[in-house]
Amino acid sequence: MPASATPLRLGLAGLGTVGIGVVKIVQRHADLIAARAGRPVVITAVSARDRTKNRDADLSDYEWETDPVALARRADVDVFVEVMGGHEGPARDATEAAIAAGKDVVTANKALLAHHGQALAEAAEAAGRVIRFEAAVAGGIPVIKALTEGLAGNRMTRVMGVMNGTCNYILTRMQNAGLPYEVVFEEARQLGYLEADPNLDVGGIDAGHKLSLLAAIAFGTKVAFDHVELQGIGDVSIEDIQLADDMGYHIKLLGVAQMTGRGLEQRMTPCLVPAESPLGQLQGGTNMVVLEGDSVGQIVMRGPGAGEGPTASAVMADVIDLARGTRLSTFGQPAATLKEAVPARSATPAPYYLRMTLLDKPGALAKIATCIGEAGISIDQMRQLNQPGEADEKAVVLIVTHKAAPADIAHAMAGFAATGVLVGQPVAIRIEEV
Ligand code: NAP
Ligand code: HSE
Repeated sequence: MPASATPLRLGLAGLGTVGIGVVKIVQRHADLIAARAGRPVVITAVSARDRTKNRDADLSDYEWETDPVALARRADVDVFVEVMGGHEGPARDATEAAIAAGKDVVTANKALLAHHGQALAEAAEAAGRVIRFEAAVAGGIPVIKALTEGLAGNRMTRVMGVMNGTCNYILTRMQNAGLPYEVVFEEARQLGYLEADPNLDVGGIDAGHKLSLLAAIAFGTKVAFDHVELQGIGDVSIEDIQLADDMGYHIKLLGVAQMTGRGLEQRMTPCLVPAESPLGQLQGGTNMVVLEGDSVGQIVMRGPGAGEGPTASAVMADVIDLARGTRLSTFGQPAATLKEAVPARSATPAPYYLRMTLLDKPGALAKIATCIGEAGISIDQMRQLNQPGEADEKAVVLIVTHKAAPADIAHAMAGFAATGVLVGQPVAIRIEEV
């Protein structure tokens, strides 16, 4: 790669957590970046909503654009860096404008790509431009590069992981401190961990966006966020976290994407995973992505999934690639060759954890066992939790099933309701083999 004096010129839209992180790296590591990229990387112009805000960075050398679309079209911008967020409005408009104006794009915006990734990739490739999005999935973990480059010779078999740091913080804090969801959710809010719309985090949507992007690269399919089975962590109780722990499991908001004979399976749901597994051990806001390919076997990548430094680090990896002249298709192969994703109608069978409260009277457990048997499900383990001599006339019952289809679990659960021995709602959580 011959060195060049011609700088790569960035237009930076968004001066929040990620944008200011990018400014700091560009300023702090100018020499290092120029040496590695073979040419200088400079910011020429920036955009945000409020020009008067104190941003803890020196922006005096940069032109200011009030309108990110105008920034995207500037003649002195080679690469449009979109770190504003949102899948409509300015982020989408400015990204489209940048491509139309002949700019490459680097974005951290998983929502934008989960909703419009295919159309944007097609537009970019038709215009001979490149969109890169390392920062959009698992923050500082270079998982997009791993999938599109390091593992490009593999047929990928499964991609999974914990991809929302806020949810992992909430679940591990509940477990470690024995606190209920509502209390830890409020703590997370106070700490500033939650997105402006918290449901993006705790509803599993943000993590679902990320999973859909990984699945597109891994399986050569068009991004199919609408087909991701989504379930958030709002219904995960401290009781289930503690009972699962007693049985050697931890509860994680786990994303799994795999190509099956029934189609593409994509799920982002709370799951039990073995406590001693790498995923089970994951604490706090850290992310972990597990990639499985036919030749390589299993790769486990762990690191910070969010924050100024880690996310800006990933943005800069993409910027430096562009400065070097590395030009990859958005999803690892030309957008026109990505296949329509056929969604699997149901998830692959798995063992399930079932918890229910029963009236503690003769025949109650037998009725539940009958429902399970009639649904074609085999029981692996069963425990009744009341202490000897306990006066309470209710009993908590835990059941771990052998592998069962989700529809059969639903059938059994419907059966429980008709037994007349159930107190409250039963709980079923998938146990993932990781
Ligand atoms: P943020 O702190 O809320 O910053 C957003 C920035 O965009 C702000 O500077 C805001 O301007 C600017 N902005 C918003 N609307 C604008 C508009 N209409 N015109 C011009 N500027 C506008 O967000 P962030 O945390 O940096 O996240 C940015 C993107 O990175 C999002 O897509 C997010 O999902 C993604 N991401 C973030 C993280 C993370 O750890 N934060 C990790 C991975 C990915 P003002 O400052 O003037 O309000
Ligand atoms: N809200 C996200 C998280 C930020 O908690 O992981 C990074 O995408």
